[in-house]
Amino acid sequence: MKLKNVIVTGGAGFIGSNLCKILSQKSFHPIALDNLSTGFKELVKYGDFVECDIGDYKKMMEIFLEYKPLAVFHIAGSKSVEESVKNPHKYYDNNVVKTNSLLKAVIDSNIEHFIFSSSAAIFGIPNQTQKYIAEDAEKKPINPYGTSKLMIEEILESYAQAYGLKYSALRYFNVTGADPELELGEISEKPANIFPLLIQAINKKRDEFVIFGDDYNTEDGTCVRDYIHVWDLANAHVKALEKQIATNKSAKINLGNGVGFSVKQVVEIFRKITDKDFKVRIGKRRAGDPDLLMADIKFATEYLDWHPKYTNLEDHARHALNWSQKS
Ligand SMILES: NC(=O)c1ccc[n+]([C@@H]2O[C@H](COP(=O)([O-])OP(=O)(O)OC[C@H]3O[C@@H](n4cnc5c(N)ncnc54)[C@H](O)[C@@H]3O)[C@@H](O)[C@H]2O)c1
Repeated sequence: MKLKNVIVTGGAGFIGSNLCKILSQKSFHPIALDNLSTGFKELVKYGDFVECDIGDYKKMMEIFLEYKPLAVFHIAGSKSVEESVKNPHKYYDNNVVKTNSLLKAVIDSNIEHFIFSSSAAIFGIPNQTQKYIAEDAEKKPINPYGTSKLMIEEILESYAQAYGLKYSALRYFNVTGADPELELGEISEKPANIFPLLIQAINKKRDEFVIFGDDYNTEDGTCVRDYIHVWDLANAHVKALEKQIATNKSAKINLGNGVGFSVKQVVEIFRKITDKDFKVRIGKRRAGDPDLLMADIKFATEYLDWHPKYTNLEDHARHALNWSQKS
């Protein structure tokens, strides 16, 4: 059987590399495109690799002509909220301007299917009367990163109407874990997320783990977040493409586990799975952190017939920790 070619931009990053592995197990041949700005060539273990920038229209046209892909999974992007506040130009350029150029090449090459890595950051501070965030919740991003993702969603909607592009905008909540077979995982030297920060404290690469505030309106006072395992996320991408092909329809889908864990609960889970001691300190609140951020995954489960398999956060923690100690 001839495998179907699919493009994965950002295929040398954490999520893209895992997606390539899952795609290659499901009769697709992934082609990872990456400029290695935050990615690593050694993470491309499945399919082909082309080092390039998604903003290079001519190069994208050549690649699309050569591979004739069925779909483009657009995972590449800049993802640090903090950096986006300090250097918004980078985020509007790398995320919005370059995606717009990539989309021109997609449309000019008559590629019908586009799957986009959006983010829960498009919602900003949710209305806390809704415990879980549904697809139609108000979208008011509070930083250039979230705005850049929302702008791309709007561009996609216009292109769907004008050019007939079919797309899925997948709004990820916090992506955690690693390949359970420990071939792939996150490599980040300057992490900003809870899992890599805790793992650095456990591996003695930082002195302590800081909890940013314990006076939030939650049960134990620390922020509650929704953590989705990278393999569940990758499987949802495959389901989204299959659904798009079957229905010829675009969709916007929130992807999480649908369950919340507080920062203190995550710390306790790591304490349980490691025998190494690590220091935890309560620090000040960070600006812009809502009390709760949890996905309503009713639409994802019904529309995609997708169900998260890794619902136990201990699995996420164990996979990520084991990967960090192996790599
Ligand atoms: N990790 C999360 O929790 C999370 C949550 C929500 C959304 N996202 C989105 O998922 C995507 C992937 O995140 P990740 O955690 O795998 O990050 P990552 O930094 O590991 O991967 C991003 C990849 O894109 C590549 N890249 C960036 N700009 C490029 C360009 N102009 N041309 C070619 N390649 C380029 C990088 O080199 C890197 O390999 C991002 O778009 C991010 O915004 C991630």
